Amino acid sequence: MAQQSLTITDNRTNQTYTLPVENGTIRAMDLRQIKTSPEDFGLMTYDPAFMNTASCRSSITFIDGDRGILRYRGYPIEVLAEHCTYLEVAYLLLFGDLPTEQELKNWVHEITHHTMLHESTRHFMQQFRYNAHPMAMLISTVAALSTVYPESKDIFNPDNRLLQIKRLIAKLPSITALAYRHSLGFPYVYPDNDLNYTENFMNMLWKMVEPKYVATPVLARALDILFILHADHEQNCSANTMRCVGSAHTDPYLTTAAAAGALAGPLHGGANEEVLKMLDEIGSKQNVPAYIKKIKEGHGKLMGFGHRVYKNYDPRAKIIKWTAEQVFEVTGRNPKLDIALELERIALEDDYFVKRKLYPNVDFYSGIIYQAMGFKPEMFTALFAIPRAAGWLAQWQEMLNDTEQKIARPRQVWTGREVRPFVPITKRSLDMART
Ligand code: CMC
Repeated sequence: MAQQSLTITDNRTNQTYTLPVENGTIRAMDLRQIKTSPEDFGLMTYDPAFMNTASCRSSITFIDGDRGILRYRGYPIEVLAEHCTYLEVAYLLLFGDLPTEQELKNWVHEITHHTMLHESTRHFMQQFRYNAHPMAMLISTVAALSTVYPESKDIFNPDNRLLQIKRLIAKLPSITALAYRHSLGFPYVYPDNDLNYTENFMNMLWKMVEPKYVATPVLARALDILFILHADHEQNCSANTMRCVGSAHTDPYLTTAAAAGALAGPLHGGANEEVLKMLDEIGSKQNVPAYIKKIKEGHGKLMGFGHRVYKNYDPRAKIIKWTAEQVFEVTGRNPKLDIALELERIALEDDYFVKRKLYPNVDFYSGIIYQAMGFKPEMFTALFAIPRAAGWLAQWQEMLNDTEQKIARPRQVWTGREVRPFVPITKRSLDMART
């Protein structure tokens, strides 16, 4: 018997089975042999919301939720946030190693030269209603890029794949900026190749009549750090969507649009917008205890708190708090910070939150910085989507190159009716339909 194994006795049949244990997991398919009769389908696991199921092997992002550790390709997030640019980190996620100086130069050049949108994409975006949500515009436009680049369907050609990856990383800031300017009725600003990734994004967002946009360096760097922190996060809801949709061999634009759809939800990336709404609702520091009481009584959730895998302080939230200080030195302090700090202080002392290991997550403070920088809350989730594209695409490539992966297709536990006799519509009654 292998030492790394698990012995199971099926009390229904008194049969014993030995299953190999590898990397702390058993293979769910090994359970299929456990049957009560030859006709029996075999044992399955039931795991709604994937609470304890590994769906892939991955070497991209490592999280130890109990110890508050986050690493991309082996590098601690704190080190990357201090020393790298977002594009350097995107390269790391996608290619597995940090780039050399020359590799980074080429990579930055390539991304910079893919930032323009096809004019048809610009016209497409201009047809959205004036008050369309920027995240919905982003998702639809990313999906629409599939019509501009039909060759992207050739997903098993690595060169072709890389070209689409560059396009997506390059064009997401352009799409987001256009969504923002559309909501204000301002004309589109074309990319400026003299500027770096975040400076150019700021240029496309905020340039008005000045001949050349000059970004405030502290703010451009803060945005870059925020992009690094959001670049990947293991098998979260949107990464899982990326892998799931990608497993059907859908092209990368439609797949990324699907992942962005998952990100838009308020329990995932949409939480940053919800945090700001919550802080507005609370209004002032004095109202915090009453708000916490309401949450504990089961009326809603404290947005920006809690995490499926972090049961310790989210390491990204710590870096964001530090970045906030730098930003506020330039922009002035966002008064919402006082409410957030009080909320955090009370929650971290409260038994309800302590017992459930609920700590501030990445979304708790990011919105406060974004708002201080001049972004509207509706823009926050799009600001999450821009850098997360690097993570999604790295996860997508890893999935496509993994020979163990197939189309993602979970099983279900059937709870419906047995076969029923069909009744023609003329003979149906409400009572019958309900029995
Ligand atoms: N406020 C109040 N109670 C909470 C919260 C919260 N934010 N989060 C979890 N709980 C409670 C929950 O009600 C449950 O209590 P009980 O055991 O009495 O039923 C317990 O804590 C365990 O929570 P859970 O819902 O089983 O945890 P989960 O892993 O399924 O959910 C989560 C994780 C992030 C969806 C959840 O914590 C949440 O909804 N947080 C607020 C939304 C948020 O900030 N989302 C951003 C997540 S981080 C970035 C990202 O993914 O984009």
